[in-house]
Amino acid sequence: MVGYIQYVLVNTIRHLGGDVALNAVAARLGLAQLPEFRIDSDYDNAQCLAMIEATGAHFGLDRPALFRLYADQFIIASRRQFPFFYDMAESAEDFLRRQPRIHKTLASSIQDKGTRERVTQKFELLEGSIPMRVRYYSPNKLCGLYEALFYRLLDEYGQSGHLSHDRCQHRGDSYCEFSLYFSGESP
Ligand code: HEM
Repeated sequence: MVGYIQYVLVNTIRHLGGDVALNAVAARLGLAQLPEFRIDSDYDNAQCLAMIEATGAHFGLDRPALFRLYADQFIIASRRQFPFFYDMAESAEDFLRRQPRIHKTLASSIQDKGTRERVTQKFELLEGSIPMRVRYYSPNKLCGLYEALFYRLLDEYGQSGHLSHDRCQHRGDSYCEFSLYFSGESP
């Protein structure tokens, strides 16, 4: 996984619990300290998933609660770091339509072709579908993170809406599929 996710996770841990929490999460992973993550480099998926587990365990949060806190930090950080993606989008719907392309743009900085392709194939917007539909294919099964970011992005644009999780890898489907509804549209 490209280090941006882990970079924001480390900052989230710091934000929630300071150095004490950073050391405690590292200890749960058997490390003296958490690594520093570069936002343009690829890291082991298993390490990232273990960090998410250890963070939840340390703060006594289940995944939805952890992802809610994480999504808040992620939107604040990514808006600061990549303002043009937000400036380009007039609404959450506009942003989410571009989200698979945003990931492809970010993946273009990865040197290794295989890794780059894996990253770019994780999200697919089903063109022309109403409501908007997005497919997510990833061994990391972080659909809960997608959901939390969807709702936090709505807040960012002062909108309301709803996500329907129509297919889910956690329920045995081979990929996840989301239908996204925005203010005024009914599920
Ligand atoms: C400017 C905003 C954003 C930036 C900079 C960004 C960046 C990234 C990066 C670098 C990764 C790691 C890619 C990989 O290794 O596969 C990632 C993963 C992910 N992003 Fe984003 N992202 C943004 C917005 C969003 C939004 C709005 C959503 C959902 C609504 C989203 C959902 C996800 C998910 C679910 C993953 C995990 C993918 C996996 O399974 O490995 N991202 N993002």
